[in-house]
Amino acid sequence: MLTNTAMKPLFIGLMSGTSLDAVDAVLVEFDGASCRVLAALSHPLPEQLRQTLLELTLPGDNEIEKLAEAEPAFARECAGAVQSLLKASQQKPENIAAIGSHGQTIRHRPEKHFTLQIGDPSLIAELTHTTVVADFRRRDIAAGGQGAPLVPAFHQSVFRQFDERSVIVNIGGMANLTILDEQPVRGFDTGPGNILMDQWSLRHTGQPFDNNGKWADSASFDQPLLEHLLEEAYFHQLPPKSTGRELFNMKWLANRLERFPHLSPAQVQSTLCQLTANTIAHDIRHFAPDSRAVYLCGGGAHNQALSQRLRQQLPDHSVSTTEALGIHPDWVEAVAFAWLARQTLQGLPGNQPEVTGAAGPRILGAIYPA
Ligand SMILES: Nc1ncnc2c1ncn2[C@@H]1O[C@H](COP(=O)(O)OP(=O)(O)O)[C@@H](O)[C@H]1O
Ligand SMILES: [Mg+2]
Repeated sequence: MLTNTAMKPLFIGLMSGTSLDAVDAVLVEFDGASCRVLAALSHPLPEQLRQTLLELTLPGDNEIEKLAEAEPAFARECAGAVQSLLKASQQKPENIAAIGSHGQTIRHRPEKHFTLQIGDPSLIAELTHTTVVADFRRRDIAAGGQGAPLVPAFHQSVFRQFDERSVIVNIGGMANLTILDEQPVRGFDTGPGNILMDQWSLRHTGQPFDNNGKWADSASFDQPLLEHLLEEAYFHQLPPKSTGRELFNMKWLANRLERFPHLSPAQVQSTLCQLTANTIAHDIRHFAPDSRAVYLCGGGAHNQALSQRLRQQLPDHSVSTTEALGIHPDWVEAVAFAWLARQTLQGLPGNQPEVTGAAGPRILGAIYPA
């Protein structure tokens, strides 16, 4: 472990979430509690690898062989993202303290005390000549936690100085929120973010996502379907809680659509958009009644239909993006993993026990030296 004074200030964060859209890579300079994004890029995944990773997220045939193909391939994409980032920023590996690599989640089953993020950190270290910190979630699970969400401790550290009575909402494949106006800070996964909208859009329009939510806004949402979707037990569970593709997937949706054959695909899309907005807004009203500002991040922050519906559901809040707090919404999660790597190298905890339900603060992850 390094002391504060010996620590190089530059870290790289790598994030690929449940959307499986790309590996996001950021170069971050830390200075005390503040951080500055020096360079950032999104490294798209090759379609075939994306398909294999998608298959691995649900039980299927020949999983270990598929894993043996996908894990080094994904690690190579991560290393490629790092190399592109270093090139773009004209930095050398020796100036980087560490890469914080989230890995690709292929299974998240906190109820079974199991979560698995793949993306061989040894191979990333070998290819990038840089120290890698990875496998952040399992130590929290070992301590009795959900292993997720891990971003609230980071949100608290960097955003709290700006606005105390606020909520950070990260809308990736899943959506999670962090309530900053509480001590200790709280946070949890509210449920699906973009994941159902993405898959429905792909099936019916061939587009991997509904650009700006235009398709959702082309039809009105269906109140009876919305109410039926809201019956899902996950929405009524109390935090700590976290979720993933294991629950919110096309099978989940198909089961619930059986009673609604008369709805058009656009009406369903509109209802899925409303579901994401309503579950987030409900949880903000319920768990953060004193908050006044909402800052969005994650790809869902670009979905104008979604943010418009959030505004309608939260008339007493200002709704903007984390850009107002100094970090572009596309990079917040990747920056969080750079921060988590720094915590680990400094011998500091990365989890927030009140968020994950772990028995206590823990130093997360494992270090793979350069
Ligand atoms: N312009 C846009 N309009 C609507 N949705 C968008 C837009 N840009 C990104 N998204 C959504 O954001 C998702 C990616 O978000 P991201 O934060 O990377 O999620 P994850 O962490 O799950 O990878 C895309 O799959 C898409 O659903
Ligand atoms: Mg992504």
